Amino acid sequence: MSRINCIGILTSGGDSPGMNAAIRAVTRSAICKGFRVKGIYRGYDGLINDEIQEFHSESVSNIISRGGTILKSARSKEFTTPEGRKKAYEVMKKEEIDALVVIGGNGSLTGAMLFAKEFDVPCIGLPGTIDNDLNGTDLTIGYDTTMNTIVECVDKIRDTANSHERIFFVEVMGRDAGFLAQNSAIASGAEAAIIPEDSTDADQLEHFIGRGIRKSKNSSIVIVSESPKCGALFYADRVKKEYPQYDVRVSILGHLQRGGSPSARDRIIASRMGAGAIDAILDGQRNVMIGIKNDQIVYVPFTDAIRPDKPLNLNLIKVLDELSI
Ligand code: F6P
Repeated sequence: MSRINCIGILTSGGDSPGMNAAIRAVTRSAICKGFRVKGIYRGYDGLINDEIQEFHSESVSNIISRGGTILKSARSKEFTTPEGRKKAYEVMKKEEIDALVVIGGNGSLTGAMLFAKEFDVPCIGLPGTIDNDLNGTDLTIGYDTTMNTIVECVDKIRDTANSHERIFFVEVMGRDAGFLAQNSAIASGAEAAIIPEDSTDADQLEHFIGRGIRKSKNSSIVIVSESPKCGALFYADRVKKEYPQYDVRVSILGHLQRGGSPSARDRIIASRMGAGAIDAILDGQRNVMIGIKNDQIVYVPFTDAIRPDKPLNLNLIKVLDELSI
């Protein structure tokens, strides 16, 4: 393998709180260890279009507390094509970037994996997604902050739900994974969570409603994982039709879940993973995602990281069930 002098860093896909802390960690750790660093703007599109700047230690000053990503992000269509990836490789050569650190979710790491295979470029991934759906790591960067944001919102919704004795269906993000919905339901004391990993379907609605509305409770909150076919609106409509005696409302939290200053936990894991990415490059690792398992940094091959079946601890469903009586 030829010597690595310069490391390029980019953020890609949906942004997540803590991406800036990760950019800072990668940059500073790389500089500490004698590498040059280049910041690539707008994800893979910026690599293809050569939107690249040399980064110094001061380039990442005062960003650890900021949400979003100073490098901007994009879901690049062009990079999904072999032609797009070839252009990206040519720009990398021109810019003398020898290795890439990609901070992003499933789609972004899939792109890195293909790129690494086709052009023999060392790529290291950092799990940057609020969805927590990457395999091989206990946490992804942004998940903790988003969970806290959801809980703060649900606490507020509960006030008005109580006052008006209403059932609220609160829809949260997570794409195809229920980590955000399940855990935020536990943390906010919701009556139920409807998540893709559970066999729950609309026919169990009566069970949810029955659990929430009883003598001791005058309101009820059900957290629903986003889904194009049966999100919160779907369930609310069904309840309105089948249980007209209840006053039902829907709250779709939307993109506010992705913003905000990262929690201490996200800043710490982003810093550890960012430094871990540079250690991985020094160790001769390539085409792995940096994860944290049982508080230890681990290297997860891209093929494992992107598998769409990260297990959700099904015991959480039981806990929520028991605590919401
Ligand atoms: O993957 C992160 C995520 O926020 C998902 O939870 C959500 O489904 C999606 O991105 C929304 O994407 P966009 O910002 O492109 O609408």
